[in-house]
Amino acid sequence: MKSSVVKDTSLGIKPIFRRFSAVIGGLDLSAPINPEMINQITNYWLEYPVLVLKKQNISDSQQVKFAKSFGELEIHPSIAHRSSKTPEIYRVSNVDENNQIMKPKSTPWQYLELTWLWHTDSSFREIPSLGSILHGIEIPTNGGDTLFADMTKAYEALPKSEQRRISKLHVFHSHDYIISQSKELSKRDNKGQYEALPRVKHPLVRRHPITKKQSLFLSPHTMESIAELEENEGRALLDDLTNHATQEQFVYRHKWEVDDILMWDNRCTMHAVLPYDSVNHRRIMHRTTLVGDSAPKA
Ligand code: OGA
Ligand code: MN
Repeated sequence: MKSSVVKDTSLGIKPIFRRFSAVIGGLDLSAPINPEMINQITNYWLEYPVLVLKKQNISDSQQVKFAKSFGELEIHPSIAHRSSKTPEIYRVSNVDENNQIMKPKSTPWQYLELTWLWHTDSSFREIPSLGSILHGIEIPTNGGDTLFADMTKAYEALPKSEQRRISKLHVFHSHDYIISQSKELSKRDNKGQYEALPRVKHPLVRRHPITKKQSLFLSPHTMESIAELEENEGRALLDDLTNHATQEQFVYRHKWEVDDILMWDNRCTMHAVLPYDSVNHRRIMHRTTLVGDSAPKA
């Protein structure tokens, strides 16, 4: 018998929803992670834009370390939602850092509730995020599932003539537009504290820099208007495309369990959180966000 055992580092992959989401097994993020594993995950991530890792009971600093193996991390522009100890952690939570459920009308909570709208993370940046890694720490019993839309399949399902027409168009995105979508928040003097970000212009159709596949680039919570179209016409087109992309056949619905980690590729997906009883039930998710590799290109 051999005295030394060669450790098998290969990770298991189990598709969940088409070639869009999959569970990746054989990982323990609390133990040291070798570069070979990161390579394997990166390859699976290109194949399945939404990856699910189960039972990862890790600390914020372990999460940050894992996320940094894929690149540099963003610091979120909303100051109230950054973890005070670990600024790379964006706290997607109705529980504050003193462990109290936030008042539903409080400014930080109203901002967060805007994640219930469909969006793509940091679409308001000149170079939007490459991908996000979210750790589910406390999960409500009802609601709070996260929906992910396959923007590649949604694009491919459009008639060729429509693909040609929209691939010439550009969209203005801004962080301010997020706040304008909450009636209460936009009326307030205290809209929260955010780092200032200028309005940016992105193509409506983008090409994934690695897979080279084209996808719709929508983010309803930051999309102000279409640059080439008159306001109403632009809005109608954005609404139509959003309705198209969020049809059931393009959407994976994730029902969370404690210590799930989800990794999604922001270059070809968009997501939304389903409402839950945020007055009585706690939901704590910690996000790390990878800086994008390049400005989106048609
Ligand atoms: C996010 C987000 C998803 C969730 O973390 O980017 O939109 O399930 N939240 O809370
Ligand atoms: Mn998000």
